[in-house]
Amino acid sequence: MNSRNVLEQFSLTGRVALLTGASGYLGEAMASGLAEAGATVVVTSRTLGRAEELAAQLPPAAGQEHLGVALDHQDEASITAAFDRVTAALGKVDVLVNNAHETTTKTWRDATLDDFAAQLKNAAGYFTLARLMRDDVVRRQAAGSVIMLGSMYGQVSSDPRMYDGIGPPNPVAYQTLKGGVAQLTRHLAVHWAPDGVRVNSISPGPFPNPQKAPADLIFRLSAKTPMGRIGTPDELKGAVVFLASDASSFVTGHDLAVNGGWTAW
Ligand SMILES: NC(=O)c1ccc[n+]([C@@H]2O[C@H](COP(=O)([O-])OP(=O)(O)OC[C@H]3O[C@@H](n4cnc5c(N)ncnc54)[C@H](OP(=O)(O)O)[C@@H]3O)[C@@H](O)[C@H]2O)c1
Repeated sequence: MNSRNVLEQFSLTGRVALLTGASGYLGEAMASGLAEAGATVVVTSRTLGRAEELAAQLPPAAGQEHLGVALDHQDEASITAAFDRVTAALGKVDVLVNNAHETTTKTWRDATLDDFAAQLKNAAGYFTLARLMRDDVVRRQAAGSVIMLGSMYGQVSSDPRMYDGIGPPNPVAYQTLKGGVAQLTRHLAVHWAPDGVRVNSISPGPFPNPQKAPADLIFRLSAKTPMGRIGTPDELKGAVVFLASDASSFVTGHDLAVNGGWTAW
């Protein structure tokens, strides 16, 4: 029987991985994880200079430089231009991590129809970029892995009491988006399985940025988590490398919760 060493299965050497929103709190750690596993990483930001700066900071890949590319996933022309730039420079995309997220502060009380629709447009961006990648994989008769970023708030509702006296509740349109991302993942996984493209999602639990989130909120989120704490960005590296690599070669349509047990009770 042909049995590959497990560390070889996790290796991304020779793969090109495109991760959007790499300037963000979690994106930067996941981009590093992909590079540490051996991938040539393409990192995006809406600002080209920022993307290039991030690419230059990543651990070096064997033989190829990482690449920084400008991409606004709410804009179809920008998505197409970014994808063309990557394939022109590196010839292919083996792994796509749809991580970027344009945020909203509007809640169920004050979101207008346009606010709500703009939040859902993040999913349209994920889809549009993923389809370009899928079409390219099919053209090359290769294989690919798409990873979407969902959220614990795409699996269960936020608890409004968590935000009492601290700030507005978590936005309804955000939770609609992230619930939709899980279904987008399942739909594409099924429709693209014959094409050799696996599609999975990661649903992070509480990963507030301690530099930005109120201490009271971090305390409450920690108390509600079975493991008694919030996550740190490094704790997403394993999940993203698993889903990107051959270690998950028979996994598709899965939503991987990385949440300290948030949804276990
Ligand atoms: N942090 C958490 O607790 C948590 C929990 C569950 C799920 N998540 C999910 O994990 C992902 C990353 O979260 P994060 O906390 O790292 O978010 P973040 O710090 O806000 O980073 C998101 C990044 O997305 C980019 N972005 C915003 N609008 C964009 C657009 N229209 N087109 C392309 N890029 C855009 C921004 O980069 P530029 O400004 O450089 O373009 C930003 O740095 C998100 O999908 C989020 O929903 C996070």
